Amino acid sequence: MIILKNERDLDAMRPACAVAGTVLEEITAFIKPGLTTREVDEFAAKRIKQHGAKSAFLGYRNYPCHTCLSVNEEVVHGLAGDRELHFGDIVSVDVGVFYKGFVGDTARTVAVGGCGVAAQRLMDVTEHALYEGIAAALPGNRVTDISRAVQTYVEANGFSVVREFVGHGVGRSMHEEPQVPNFVDPKSNQKLRSGMTLAIEPMVNAGQSGVKILKDGWTVVTQDGLLSAHFEHTVLVTEGEPEILTCPETKPSRLKVG
Ligand code: MF3
Ligand code: CO
Ligand code: CO
Repeated sequence: MIILKNERDLDAMRPACAVAGTVLEEITAFIKPGLTTREVDEFAAKRIKQHGAKSAFLGYRNYPCHTCLSVNEEVVHGLAGDRELHFGDIVSVDVGVFYKGFVGDTARTVAVGGCGVAAQRLMDVTEHALYEGIAAALPGNRVTDISRAVQTYVEANGFSVVREFVGHGVGRSMHEEPQVPNFVDPKSNQKLRSGMTLAIEPMVNAGQSGVKILKDGWTVVTQDGLLSAHFEHTVLVTEGEPEILTCPETKPSRLKVG
């Protein structure tokens, strides 16, 4: 069953998503060469707490970290640990928080200090693919229209989409119906309606689309060892343009007079 959100739900879900977007921005600003992923996750835990939110990941199916931090060939669900971040690495940061009874889920891949042109192009194409997907999140369209928009853009740019993991509805729980694949799957052809809240999240591999899970039971890596990138927003389908819910909070800035 797909759960539509009404204005009262959205009064709580908008702030939840804004916190997720803000924390993601804070984490990506914090990341620099020399840090371990554990230090990044500890910083994330502090920021989530300071916002009065809770990690939606910690404890989910026994997931042991506050965020997902996936480096280079790691696709998603990377576990924080002793791995040190080096200049030129790319790291996918996925943040999910509970706040006011709702979940906000958002991710982006960033370079550690800087990166090569091939890695940058992978990140650019993945981010753009996310916006192609968002633009297709219109009432009357189907989930497959989002999937097709993402897949077409990614493949036209010579990269491949991951098939084993998909986007999803999101609300009071992190994973609601429908699934939102990044490839056209005829099984995922539900009609989109105003009030749906979807986590659209292309996972894009520089090489082949195949992935495997490491022995830790969580970390998803590319089979060919090449780079992967991941961008995600929680989006509200409206009668008009889709509303991107996981944008960072914009604090009203006040002029200091005198
Ligand atoms: N946030 C991920 C998603 O986009 C799911 C994380 S699963 C967890 O769907 F186990 F790591 F929490
Ligand atoms: Co996520
Ligand atoms: Co998600």
